[in-house]
Formats: sequence, structure tokens, C-alpha cells
Amino acid sequence: MTDLLRLSGISKAYEMDGVTFQALDNVSLSIQKGEFVAIMGPSGSGKSTLMHIVGCLDRPTSGHVIIEDRDISTASDRELAAIRNTHIGFVFQQFNLLRKTSALTNVELPMVYANVAPKVRHDRAVAMLAEVGLSEKMNNYPSQLSGGQQQRVAIARALVTNPSIILADEPTGNLDSKSGKDIMAIFEHLHAAGGTIVLVTHDESVARHAKRIVRIADGKILSDSGKRKRI
Ligand SMILES: Nc1ncnc2c1ncn2[C@@H]1O[C@H](COP(=O)(O)OP(=O)(O)OP(=O)(O)O)[C@@H](O)[C@H]1O
Ligand SMILES: [Mg+2]
Repeated sequence: MTDLLRLSGISKAYEMDGVTFQALDNVSLSIQKGEFVAIMGPSGSGKSTLMHIVGCLDRPTSGHVIIEDRDISTASDRELAAIRNTHIGFVFQQFNLLRKTSALTNVELPMVYANVAPKVRHDRAVAMLAEVGLSEKMNNYPSQLSGGQQQRVAIARALVTNPSIILADEPTGNLDSKSGKDIMAIFEHLHAAGGTIVLVTHDESVARHAKRIVRIADGKILSDSGKRKRI
């Protein structure tokens, strides 16, 4: 079976005041279509750095990122943006919704970038918001939504372009436990429907939803419950 995502020897160094800090150190990881993977590790271990590289929001200092057989390490900024828009759905801890537009417009936005026709993108956004249980709140601005509702809008926004892979960085980190459970139910549903999910969490009870747990510390993979034996 081919890998949906393959990281090979990824390192990321940050230069500050003449000192180099190695945030990721030779990380290799393969993820197949339909996998649900949790990434765990202490604060500062490099989880978000890794997610940003996988999500084409940042580039590694060295190593290769291969998404659906395409090596994106050498892609231009423009190409990276296009890959991000078609392959990646990103969900952040702080929701990252546009404050001055409605839930509906927030969900429509990725389709504006993808040049989807206005009527089509409207209908898709409405359907996606219904799927996350927000039909009643489509016209609310983010400030008029609870944290859990805002995160559901963010998930609808991430899913509306039908991405090959969903990346979620502490998606329940700012939520109470009931809202967190609602969000995890959406991810479970997505996984059952064949979606590929990579989720960062500090919370063991959240990680238990995943079928595979990758633990990182100091920019290195410590353990990987799903590592395949190479023969
Ligand atoms: N732009 C940057 N410049 C310098 N150092 C950075 C930069 N971004 C991240 N780092 C450092 O890289 C390390 C990894 O950061 P990262 O955000 O990936 O950690 P994390 O595992 O996501 O932590 P948390 O659980 O707190 O979110 C940290 O030590 C951080 O200080
Ligand atoms: Mg982080």
C-alpha cells in the first residue's frame, strides 16, 4: 500500500541570536490513507513545528515531505499554497476564524481560494455546517458562538474542500470536556468514513480515539505504536 504522507529525515533548525536550536531532529514517519494518528509529547518537543511542516505552512531545514507521491520539499511558495488548499485541512487550538465574517463565510473562504462558483460554495458550506450541527448558527459571527461551536465551524472549514488529510493541533485544548467530546465525535465519524487524521494532543483520553500514537520528545520520535516492521 502506498503512503499518503511520508516524512523522511526531517530536521528543522531555528537560528536565534547566533544560536541554533534544533526543533526537529531527523524525523521519519509514514502515514497511510485512512489512519487516525495522535502525536503526543511535552510542551516544546516540536509537535506544532511538525504539523506546520506537514501542513505546508512551513518548510523543513532538511529532509523530504512527500504527500501523495509528490515531494513538496522543493515546491515554490505558490505551489505549497495550492497543495495546502487541495490536500490539507488544518484545525488549530485557537480556532483561527475570521472575526468579522459569519460562520457561513468562514466556511466558504477556502472555496473562494479554490475558485469554486459562488452558488456551489454556498450550498457546500451550508451542508458542511449542517454536518457539524450548526445549521441554526450559520449567520453568527465567531464572537457570537461558544468555543465548541467555533471549533466546529473551523472543522467545517477544514473539511469543505474535501482534503486528503486532516491535521488538528490541540483541537480540544481550549474547550471544556463536553465540547471536547463533541469535537472528538466528529473526528471519529470522519475516521469511520475513511478520513485520514493526524491530531496533536496532551490529553491521553483524547489520544485514545486514535488507532496509533506517535510520541515525540526533543524533536525526535520516541515511540510509534503503529510502526511497521521493515523486512
Ligand atoms: N519561530 C521560532 N523561532 C525560534 N524557535 C522556535 C520557533 N518556533 C518554535 N520554536 C521552538 O521550537 C521548539 C518546538 O516548538 P513547538 O511549537 O513545535 O512545540 P510544541 O511541541 O508544539 O509545544 P506545545 O505543546 O507547547 O504546543 C520550542 O522549543 C520552540 O521554542
Ligand atoms: Mg504546539
